[in-house]
Amino acid sequence: MTAPTVVVLAAGEGTRMRSAVPKMLHEICGRPMVQWPIRAAIEAGAGRVVVVGGPGGELDGALPDGVELAVQREPRGTGDAVLAAAERLEGDAPVLVVNGDTPLVTPQLLAAVLQAHTSSGAAATIATVELDDPTGYGRVVRGPDGGVEHIAETKSPGDADEAELRIREVNAGVYAFDGTRLLPALQRVQPDNAQGEYYLPDVLQVFRGDDHGVAAFPVDDPQAVLGVNDRVDLARVRALAQRRIHEAHMRAGVTIVDPDATTIDANVQLGRDTVIEPASFLRGSTRAGERCRIGPLTTIIDSALNDQVTVTHSYLLECEVHDGAKLGPFAYLRPGTVVRANAKVGTFVEVKNSDIGEGTKVPHLTYLGDADVGGQTNIGAGTITANYDGFRKHRTRIGERVHGGVDTSFVAPVEVGDDAWTAAGSAIVDDVPPGALGVARERQRNVEGYDARKRSEEEERRKG
Ligand code: UD1
Ligand code: CA
Repeated sequence: MTAPTVVVLAAGEGTRMRSAVPKMLHEICGRPMVQWPIRAAIEAGAGRVVVVGGPGGELDGALPDGVELAVQREPRGTGDAVLAAAERLEGDAPVLVVNGDTPLVTPQLLAAVLQAHTSSGAAATIATVELDDPTGYGRVVRGPDGGVEHIAETKSPGDADEAELRIREVNAGVYAFDGTRLLPALQRVQPDNAQGEYYLPDVLQVFRGDDHGVAAFPVDDPQAVLGVNDRVDLARVRALAQRRIHEAHMRAGVTIVDPDATTIDANVQLGRDTVIEPASFLRGSTRAGERCRIGPLTTIIDSALNDQVTVTHSYLLECEVHDGAKLGPFAYLRPGTVVRANAKVGTFVEVKNSDIGEGTKVPHLTYLGDADVGGQTNIGAGTITANYDGFRKHRTRIGERVHGGVDTSFVAPVEVGDDAWTAAGSAIVDDVPPGALGVARERQRNVEGYDARKRSEEEERRKG
């Protein structure tokens, strides 16, 4: 059997979203909506995937490699949208059409619709589903022979009558067509309906009139074909997509303590025996290895964690964390940060664009920006890198096995050698050689009898 061409309808205005962002670019679990049916099509073994987009180039850059884009000049309806892909439908490959706003469609469902279509020999097969609340969907009107007669649209009043509105079987927005018969039939569809649009489902009537078979493929899982028309639908679909993602991770050996309180984007990768505690958000291209413990109350975006990393109550953005490192509670790691094996970045510590060496500890109340810190170093509580001179950023280089005193400022550019020490409360503006102690503060001096002197001065004043 020739691999099908899958057409994903993704033009259309998405007016019901009430958004400046095109509907197809609204994200579901970190992926633009349009990518969901595309991935399902690829996994189902599509020969070509053609996405029909609008003329504004909204989908540029949002489509995976190898996916073709056809442009529908004006949003004149779903039938017109398929015609916009006509040039790419030549040949006798079967054509699967999927509404782009049906993001939960699975590869299994697409394959099943195609399978049913080929084995029945029909010219068209339409997936249908029974919904408790069919509001907004096209109703499947069946003839006396039980076959599909036509689809009664309901988006605008006027297309469907009272009896049709009571039908609960709806058009799921997934179709299979005979590749040679689709285009000629579509060209005969007229926009004589409430919206003045070319409705794709009207092609079924054309086929039926020509005595070509029209088959229905009943879908038993209504969730797989939920359409997204507004943001209420978007939230509903997101929750279902999220559940699928969670279940795949859990089946692969990840513990998600409270799935309802955990957000994991579609592209996130997690290793076995990693535990995700509640109120955690793993987003974008985040990866974590095995036996990590993440959360509670942790956000990790586009970051890579190796094995056995612990992150508690923390926020990580575009950083890299190696084996056995411990982060938090209340650590904030910003882009370009690398935390090497077994290092610790502790409480109320912010790190930006810095390299924290193996086994190094940054336990409390610290800001490290543009710093390179060697291994086995201890950064004292209250350490700050002054990395910005008001015009430019500079680096701080701290060697291995350094003993940083508490409340130290490193005024960059500055370099501290291996095995060096800094005295508590120092503003280190000059390099500290290896093995040396850098002291940069006033020596302490005690004023004896100060309290007594103050009191007698005060007494004098009152008398005086
Ligand atoms: C459509 C079906 C309806 C079905 C429902 C399933 C039609 C006329 N109606 O209704 O029978 O029950 O889907 O979810 O097809 N699009 C374009 N160009 C256009 C118009 C739409 O590319 O000119 C795209 C949209 O981006 C969307 C898809 O086609 O992804 C469906 O369009 P939409 O307007 O949402 O159709 P529905 O009213 O939901
Ligand atoms: Ca829709």
